[in-house]
Amino acid sequence: MGLTFSVVTTPADRVAADLLAVPVAKGGVLTPAAATVDTALDGGLQSFLEEAGFEGNLGDTLAVPTGGKLRARAALLVGVGDVEKLTLDDLRRAAAAIARRATKAPNLATTLLDVASALPRDDAAQALAEGFVLGAYQFLEYKGDGKPTKLGKVVVVADGGNAVRDALARGSVIADAVVWARDRVNTPSQEKPPAEMAAEARRLLRNRGVTVQVYDVPELERQRFGGVLGVGQGSDQKPRFLKLTYAPSGVGKGGALAFVGKGVVFDSGGLSLKTGAGMETMKCDMSGAAAVIAAMSALRDLGVKTRVTGYVPLVENMPSGHAIRPGDVLRIRNGKTVEVLNTDAEGRLILADALSVASEDKPAAVVDLATLTGACVVALGEKIAGLMGNDDAWIEQVHNAADRAGERVWPLPLPADYRKGIDSPVADIKNVGPREGGAITAGLFLQEFVDGVPWAHLDIAGPAFLSGDDGYLPKGGTGFGVRTLLELARTFEPPPAATSTPAPTTRRAPAAKKRTRTTRG
Ligand code: BES
Ligand code: MN
Ligand code: ZN
Repeated sequence: MGLTFSVVTTPADRVAADLLAVPVAKGGVLTPAAATVDTALDGGLQSFLEEAGFEGNLGDTLAVPTGGKLRARAALLVGVGDVEKLTLDDLRRAAAAIARRATKAPNLATTLLDVASALPRDDAAQALAEGFVLGAYQFLEYKGDGKPTKLGKVVVVADGGNAVRDALARGSVIADAVVWARDRVNTPSQEKPPAEMAAEARRLLRNRGVTVQVYDVPELERQRFGGVLGVGQGSDQKPRFLKLTYAPSGVGKGGALAFVGKGVVFDSGGLSLKTGAGMETMKCDMSGAAAVIAAMSALRDLGVKTRVTGYVPLVENMPSGHAIRPGDVLRIRNGKTVEVLNTDAEGRLILADALSVASEDKPAAVVDLATLTGACVVALGEKIAGLMGNDDAWIEQVHNAADRAGERVWPLPLPADYRKGIDSPVADIKNVGPREGGAITAGLFLQEFVDGVPWAHLDIAGPAFLSGDDGYLPKGGTGFGVRTLLELARTFEPPPAATSTPAPTTRRAPAAKKRTRTTRG
């Protein structure tokens, strides 16, 4: 799986490769390496660029003839835009653009890191590796005429030796985890019932320093997982629950981090059936689960020193003679009762159990990822995840980690006075509120199950599954969240004891702090 990276300091015109990719800045300004290529081509490059109308905009590419004057068999120019303003995410995009053009080149060399001199060297190298692996991604499992990329090796022409090498390795570990998540999301639901997801998780996590516990139905009953059992009862594919534990040696149980991921392997809506169109993408409804499992697989390789536990409820939401009905009441793991008025608001029911058990284990902080509401997609569009929670410092930490990782998130409030929207006449709470503010009501519902532990919630219904390609993000499953979770785990600081939040409706948004643009914001 994946690409292999190496580092050399050979001058660009002397590097042997199938393809040499060199950056060009906005306005067709040649970077030093492009100038080397120009010299090898007897100075014809500038006019060639003009003829081709190549302006060096970020992500543009142009193949140039080499006339046999370079050691590389072919050359590719890649636009990087304004070098002065170059961000880590621009580097990912430029690398991805190269990867997408290099499908016939088993061996690629690139001087792309040359343009990143204003960025921390290791961050830049990591982003470059991520961009190559993520940009090279293809899902061809079911394609008769698919053309798998031949790209296998990337030679990075750069100084910096071991530090750069380590950072490339880190980027490729992270991106390989994202690729695993993408593959699981893109896999049709027929191939990934809960039991199969559990088996895949076991396979992935073997020899990765993670203990895998799988709860089957009798165990779920013993442990009173009413939400998981209730949602899962309509399907012939029985539910499961995963508890994944990463416990680095010498690290105690204090200061631990908990990841929770929604794992609905297919969401038909249940008896509150979705429309035909509404179901088309619902194989993606286990994206949160895939992100958590994938992130767990990379913790040891990244040398994470924090204890991390993953909690993953896995169900299929189907209508049948056994299915849960609107009006039925479920008792969640923590004892609270829920009136299920809409069986399509199933994610919050399984997350309620998961957040309850996670909170019982008393982590220092918990973050959940869930393709939870269409309302969040209406609010923020398909590229930005909604961020909510009960602790400003923890929300801020998650926001900063997402920014650094290049994943776009934005805060939404959880105003206390909206809570009455989910009051139930018969149970402690009902599972749907008014249509307006649907992402917020869902967040307020989840908050009932975290028992005061610092908690952040990412509604990833938009960015988990895209309607079209966008840079290093492909159409379909994106693996959204994996990079944020890993950045969080690498840099985790237990949030200070929760600040009390008496009047949340008038509170400023937690993101009030000035924030630098890291992605297409
Ligand atoms: N899985 C869906 C949310 C979703 C929608 C994810 C679009 C990705 C893209 C979730 O289970 C759901 O059906 N939510 C309902 C909630 C409603 C019934 C309160 C929704 O958003 O319509
Ligand atoms: Mn649903
Ligand atoms: Zn769902």
